[in-house]
Amino acid sequence: MRKKFLPYNLPDLGPEEEDAVIQTLRNHWITRGPLSEQFEAALASELGVPQVLALASCTAGMHLALLAQGIGPGDQVITTPMTFAASVNVIIHVGATPVMVDVEEETGNIDLAQVEQAITERTKVILPVHYAGQSVDMEYLNRLRDRYHLVIVEDAAHAIASRYQGQRIGSFGNITSFSFYATKNLTTGEGGAVVVPDPDLAEKIRVLSLHGMSRHAWKRYSEKGSWAYSIEDAGFKYNMTDLEAALGLAQLNKLDRMQARRRQIAEEYAQALGDLPVILPTEREYREHAWHLYPLRIKSEFLTISRDDFIEAMKAQNIGTSVHFIPIHLHPYYQQRYGLRRGQFPKAEKFFEQEVSLPLYPSMTDEDIHDVVHAVREIVLSHLA
Ligand SMILES: Cc1ncc(COP(=O)(O)O)c(C=O)c1O
Repeated sequence: MRKKFLPYNLPDLGPEEEDAVIQTLRNHWITRGPLSEQFEAALASELGVPQVLALASCTAGMHLALLAQGIGPGDQVITTPMTFAASVNVIIHVGATPVMVDVEEETGNIDLAQVEQAITERTKVILPVHYAGQSVDMEYLNRLRDRYHLVIVEDAAHAIASRYQGQRIGSFGNITSFSFYATKNLTTGEGGAVVVPDPDLAEKIRVLSLHGMSRHAWKRYSEKGSWAYSIEDAGFKYNMTDLEAALGLAQLNKLDRMQARRRQIAEEYAQALGDLPVILPTEREYREHAWHLYPLRIKSEFLTISRDDFIEAMKAQNIGTSVHFIPIHLHPYYQQRYGLRRGQFPKAEKFFEQEVSLPLYPSMTDEDIHDVVHAVREIVLSHLA
């Protein structure tokens, strides 16, 4: 057994991030300013899109995307139960109604054939999640968008490095919101960014992200600035800070390296666990998985250990794991408000009941990987049905 606990997740932070943050502190401009703009430009170029807005979170990006397009009471937004609260809460915050559709058994992504059946005259938006970093079928999604004249807001919290048919997620002409939360493939501690293809809409979201103010503080307080400002809307305090952007720029510089290590770990897991009676995540055709998560699934038909006991057994081996996600319709708030109940989305429920996310992050050593493999093998092989 390992001597030291292996956390489920750790951000990959080193001298590059330390230097970037210290430099920012010494420059004395720590909230939104030149580095946030530099980060936006660097990210836009990385994704191959004309414009990106850096914000406080992925949640902020999705919220403003819905708000700026006038989505509100009476409108329906189709989304997945296999997600974090953020994807659904933003729909509720604008006064619209979330409509859940079950997931694909294999990927945990929203089932687009079922989405098509759920579209009504009140449907305005589809809000899919690229679960674990494996993209949904973008061709199918955009066909639905065009055929039914819908808005797509992609929850790309897991998908900063994902591709579909060789093309980066974020570059398919939809509003796409990324997360840079502490556990994500690229982190700024807290933070997010949203791709907004329409420049007028982007400007509206930019204004809404800082109290509806016409100009950011940096523009007002810098040498060329003027004190005047006007409030054009009742906006929010959703800006990124330059301290976060400094981290983001340092992380962006090493994204390829971090992704290569994630891929390597996923490949090592696949090789070392492939013979076990468990379900391993696979990379589907035409997709490049970002390997944000490694969702292993425990099949009760083949093992005498439950998912919950498997997690405890991993903990006893000093290895942290996590679960993604407790489906939305199993939480009391959504059940009480929307009459959702257990049994409604059987594939999401089954996925959840079987799922355990193994540690997967660039700073894991070869020994860490070996320890995870060893623990999983030992637990599984000692619980064969
Ligand atoms: C699928 C999904 N969507 C949205 C979010 C929210 O991201 P943020 O914390 O940047 O708002 C998360 C965060 O964990 C997530 O996993």
